Amino acid sequence: MKKALLLGHRGFSGPYPENTPLAFQKVAETRADGIETDVHICKSGELVLCHDEKVDRTSNGHGEIKDLTYDELLSLDFGAWKSPDFAGQRIWTLGELLDFCKEAKLVLNLELKNGIEFYPGLEQRCAAEIRARHMEDTVFVSSFNHVSMQRFKELAPEIETGLLYESPLQDMAHYLDACNADNVHPCWHVFEYQPELIELFHGRGMKANVWTVNDEKAARFLLDLGIDGLIGNYPDMLCRVAGR
Ligand code: G3P
Ligand code: CA
Repeated sequence: MKKALLLGHRGFSGPYPENTPLAFQKVAETRADGIETDVHICKSGELVLCHDEKVDRTSNGHGEIKDLTYDELLSLDFGAWKSPDFAGQRIWTLGELLDFCKEAKLVLNLELKNGIEFYPGLEQRCAAEIRARHMEDTVFVSSFNHVSMQRFKELAPEIETGLLYESPLQDMAHYLDACNADNVHPCWHVFEYQPELIELFHGRGMKANVWTVNDEKAARFLLDLGIDGLIGNYPDMLCRVAGR
């Protein structure tokens, strides 16, 4: 079995509050390769890590990230919603996570959250943060917004891009021709339906990194298929199934 990349989805987000310093640090305690996270731009211009466009579900605050300043976001608790034990977790900037990944030697899959909110300059800003730390080989980006991935590839050809998608697409080969992306990031269920796609992707030199793999049977099926990367909420489980 080939060595697949194993990533904690939103950090180690099964037991810990997603996209928080704690969830990121807990990945480093496993044998996983790295972290997947989500980036937005807040009102005062900082690049911040959160899944949703709004902070309501994962903090004690309210409102859209684009309407909140960094100081306002910093005042929010992003841990207590999961459990009182995790109270005091704060939002991290992309820069903080990049510094952490560099120090901990972790790979980072950065998802640009520009499928609903089209943050101006998000691609340029993320590329600049990655380049400033010389992390072009250990950080790769993805998005459900494939136009954004095309723009990213044009402005930073040395950083790998990935096309996120959830449901099977028609005429995948022609679609991939038009997109000029390095990799594909389908929902893992796509491979239950179209396992033959792995040959199309590999034949084009593309890696297939799938999400969100939270059960052992699915992880085993995907590893046997020859998947390149697994992204899941329980990176410890992914390591166990992969024999680490
Ligand atoms: O990047 C894989 C996965 O994170 C995409 O979906 O909604 O969890 O960001 P979502
Ligand atoms: Ca994501």
